[in-house]
Amino acid sequence: MTVIKWRDSFNTGVAEFDREHHKLIELIEMMHSAVRDKSGKEVAETACDELVAYAVSHFDNEEKAMAAVGYPELEAHRAEHSLLKQEAQNFQRRIAANFPDGVTELYRFLREWLANHIQDCDKKYGPFLKEKQDIP
Ligand SMILES: [Fe+2]
Repeated sequence: MTVIKWRDSFNTGVAEFDREHHKLIELIEMMHSAVRDKSGKEVAETACDELVAYAVSHFDNEEKAMAAVGYPELEAHRAEHSLLKQEAQNFQRRIAANFPDGVTELYRFLREWLANHIQDCDKKYGPFLKEKQDIP
């Protein structure tokens, strides 16, 4: 069973961010398999930490790219990232304190937000960034 599969509708058209979104999905799957295979609290926690750290640096990368080209919806997008960060960090703390409590909800949450955020918010910056960065 996979938690989330890549869909064509996730493509933003910006190769760097599509790559990072792929990586996020891969990290969600890694965390999921660590729990499914009962690899233990430590392995699952490491996977969870890696996922959250990667998501945070990915958001920074997106925000920097949007700021560099004067993307008009940057502030709204940043606010959305900030909520997601808080929520993911809450889960991270909960999992660390009471593993495996919270893990299933974390998948569900990540699956939802990844799909919605990419398809609603990230896809909007695609054409803007491509035009400004002159990406063929
Ligand atoms: Fe984003």
